[in-house]
Amino acid sequence: MIIYSRNRRLRTSASMRALVQETVLTTNDFVMPIFVMEGENKQEAIASMPGIFRRTLDLTVKECQELFSLGVKAVNLYMKVSEDLKDNRGTESWNKNGLMQNTIKAIKDAVPEMIIMPDVALDPYSIYGHDGIITNGKIDNDATNDALVKMSVSHAEAGADIVAPSDMMDGRVAAIRTGLEESGFTDVGILSYSAKYASSFYGPFRSALDSAPVDNQDIPKDKKTYQMDFHNSREAIDEVLKDVAEGADIIMIKPGMPYLDIVAKVRDIIDLPIAVYNVSGEYAMLKAAAQNGWLDNDKAIIESLTCIKRAGADMIFTYAAKEAAILLNN
Ligand code: PBG
Repeated sequence: MIIYSRNRRLRTSASMRALVQETVLTTNDFVMPIFVMEGENKQEAIASMPGIFRRTLDLTVKECQELFSLGVKAVNLYMKVSEDLKDNRGTESWNKNGLMQNTIKAIKDAVPEMIIMPDVALDPYSIYGHDGIITNGKIDNDATNDALVKMSVSHAEAGADIVAPSDMMDGRVAAIRTGLEESGFTDVGILSYSAKYASSFYGPFRSALDSAPVDNQDIPKDKKTYQMDFHNSREAIDEVLKDVAEGADIIMIKPGMPYLDIVAKVRDIIDLPIAVYNVSGEYAMLKAAAQNGWLDNDKAIIESLTCIKRAGADMIFTYAAKEAAILLNN
């Protein structure tokens, strides 16, 4: 039998496969999410995220130096603040001497070339564990936007390169852009979580920051009035196009692995860089299986990150960034 076209011809050796490889994963693609806590010289393991820690500022700076030397050039920052600093408005989030602001300054001083992307959202600062201010039992979109602008400007003052609003309020990209421009921060970018779904895959993250919505019948029990419904896909396009029009510099889709159809679809219609968040639950699943010997940890990490890139991501927020960087460097 003559088969004229044989796909296996280009798979015959490692060199041949390298020649026709379409997607190349590098450490330039990674953004490492980092959890910071108050205090000195301490780190706490996060049980559901093996290998990930909450660290005090001094140890966070050391970790950033190490990450940069491995080729990871961007970090996404999250603060765990004590209960007494929380309120409904997230006031602590724009404290000039807050933990976030001090962390941004310290990393900038120690590793000036590191791209610093602080998370912009109220939940770690909210007594209710919501990304929005609550007025009469509801998430108050526009009041929340005012708070997010203050938070963003305060991050820019501390030295942030790119602010990363993860809250899903309507109109917040335009509000933040205006606030940054009016304060002279014309070079500070906005990475907008444009299509962020209400997902059960955020569980380990919420326990890391102690930021889950509190159980209280007077407030919404989940984030479904602002995060997207996972049954929807066209709606993601609408969210993305609005954020592009409002002045976002980078568009985020989140979670990652179960949502790569959305990534591919958005890739087809926009030219701005796309970030994908390989979230805490995805990391936890992989680690749990690897710890049981059910998956090869290293291979599964490289495969999943490469597939996220293949779907159309220009950058990947991943807790495996450091591990993957070490694997790619070897
Ligand atoms: C909240 C925020 C969340 C994550 C990043 N920012 C959780 C949430 O929306 O409840 C999740 C990240 C992860 O699971 O890794 N603004």
